[in-house]
Amino acid sequence: MTIEKFIKEIPKAELHLHIEGSFQPELMFEIAKRNNIKIPYSSVEELKKAYKFSCLQDFLDIYYTGAGVLITELDFYDLTMAYFKACKEDHVIFTEIMFDPQTHTKRGISFETVINGIQKAREDAKEKYGIDSLLIMSYLRHLSEEDAFETLQESLPFKHLIKSVGLDSSEKGNPPSKFKNVYEASVKEGYVPVAHAGEEGNADYIWEAIDILKVKRIDHGNNCLQDEDLVKEINARNLALTVCPLSNLELRNVDILSNHPLKKLMNKGVKVTVNSDDPAYFGGYINENFLQIQKALNLTKEDIVELVKNSFQYSFAEDDKKAEYL
Ligand code: HPA
Ligand code: ZN
Repeated sequence: MTIEKFIKEIPKAELHLHIEGSFQPELMFEIAKRNNIKIPYSSVEELKKAYKFSCLQDFLDIYYTGAGVLITELDFYDLTMAYFKACKEDHVIFTEIMFDPQTHTKRGISFETVINGIQKAREDAKEKYGIDSLLIMSYLRHLSEEDAFETLQESLPFKHLIKSVGLDSSEKGNPPSKFKNVYEASVKEGYVPVAHAGEEGNADYIWEAIDILKVKRIDHGNNCLQDEDLVKEINARNLALTVCPLSNLELRNVDILSNHPLKKLMNKGVKVTVNSDDPAYFGGYINENFLQIQKALNLTKEDIVELVKNSFQYSFAEDDKKAEYL
């Protein structure tokens, strides 16, 4: 069996996926039309041409504009179902989906509308495709901690549907320490803490994420390589990294994929997983990430198996489920 076929067919888990970042241009236009919303691009092709980013903020500006056409429960359902369909094709059997409530509540869409649409899709995906999933509610770090507290409050009636809290959006200038109190409160409510750290921010941001927010996993985390002691600490605490190769390439955190730090991290004993982050914007779902990084770094079948095993091992699935997968 070729390594490409092996990659495509092996059952895998995805641990770093923003549902709003899975919004394909075709579906965006369809939903905009049915909601009578004008998007500032005349066609799918013109929109796709805008997907050229020189940094995280470039991307976020377009990502929030795109998410602006999501209004009804059905919109969130369709968005999430489209992602699950891609999961089925890529043999993803377990996925941890991040959603950004504030991207929507700040526009007057209720928390309930967002989560109900996503939740219905989760239930249908389980029934139709056999895919298990859980939810990570992400706070937007460019907003205040007070705003995040409001979101935490809004989430409480739906607490049984949410496993974890995360932190995303513009990293530089918005360090994890800004969210110390809301993370403490979130953990008290039973949410498992994770955070984006070390994507554009330096190693200090990762130190804060582990020491102050007490995260159980690090989203991206590439920049831990700036600090040997940090790498040691990440390994000592058995924290996995959710690495997103095509995202790092498209947001210019690496110049070419052959310079991507994934293998270097693995060689240092860091537990790495491969993920798509925002597949509609960065050129592919999880299989495409695996295929391109395998080629660029000449990864072996054993490397792929290790990465896939990590994706289950370091997931937040229940232990009995995990044992079933592994
Ligand atoms: N980084 C930070 N915030 C995000 C991202 C990302 O890649 N995608 C969606 N929000
Ligand atoms: Zn992300």
